[in-house]
Amino acid sequence: MTLLDGKATAAAIKQEIAAEVEQILAAGGKQPHLAAILVGHDGGSETYVANKVKSCAECGFKSTLIRFEDTVTEEELLAKVEELNHDDDVDGFIVQLPLPKHIDEEKVTEAIDYRKDVDGFHPINVGRMSIGLPCFVSATPNGILQLLKHYNIETSGKKCVVLGRSNIVGKPMANLMMQKSYPGDATVTVLHSHSKNIKEECQQADILIVAMGKPGFVTEDMVKPGAVVIDVGTTRVPDATRKNGFRLSGDVDFEHVAPKCSYITPVPGGVGPMTICSLMKNTLSAGKKEFYK
Ligand code: GUN
Repeated sequence: MTLLDGKATAAAIKQEIAAEVEQILAAGGKQPHLAAILVGHDGGSETYVANKVKSCAECGFKSTLIRFEDTVTEEELLAKVEELNHDDDVDGFIVQLPLPKHIDEEKVTEAIDYRKDVDGFHPINVGRMSIGLPCFVSATPNGILQLLKHYNIETSGKKCVVLGRSNIVGKPMANLMMQKSYPGDATVTVLHSHSKNIKEECQQADILIVAMGKPGFVTEDMVKPGAVVIDVGTTRVPDATRKNGFRLSGDVDFEHVAPKCSYITPVPGGVGPMTICSLMKNTLSAGKKEFYK
């Protein structure tokens, strides 16, 4: 069994990005600039955004963090999105999700100029991704592709099972794994809360990608010997032995599943760092106006 080390892979890719930024600056180009909007004080979102800001510094990017209390109105938030859409210094920006219930996430996502949508959540980017056109691809699925590529994992003709159908991970992941490319060219099955025979379907998977948010959902009996297992879960589980009072739990029972796998991602240190690294790649592309003028 080989551990898919997202932390080390992401660090190596971020170094490459930093080297490219140095070249851009040396040639008199513009420093890439990512802005992030954070609403409220959700612990998970605080951590993710802090890591994004830290990664910007590691890549040589400028970053701006814009905070709102969770009492912010939809109108105020949309006004900030509009301001960033027109701010020529900002190459790309994100609105960290989830948003408070009184704000329509779809409306906010669609208000973002797709040319600055480095999360790849805007319908234009989702649509372009689904037909294989250049665009911002959402960070978690793209990070997983980069990890598969980094470890030279064969995907062509493999049976790939994606557990979960969220707009952020499951749907784009399934789409990317069936694209005519590497990584891709897989035969993809998507399973969700209404699927039947989940265990039997998972047992067929050469590549199993799990994004359910249900700690320990995938057990040893569900995994084919030699499978590649990618765990997207990061649920905070109370843990009195930890200083912060919780630990991150993946969707896979790692201890019992890992010995059966050819490759598996740890949690933490697997998909998480790759997600942030993909956001950095998208920001670099935005700075270079690689996809859109
Ligand atoms: N919430 C969980 N993952 C993400 C992400 O990739 N981007 C944003 N904006 N919010 C998230």
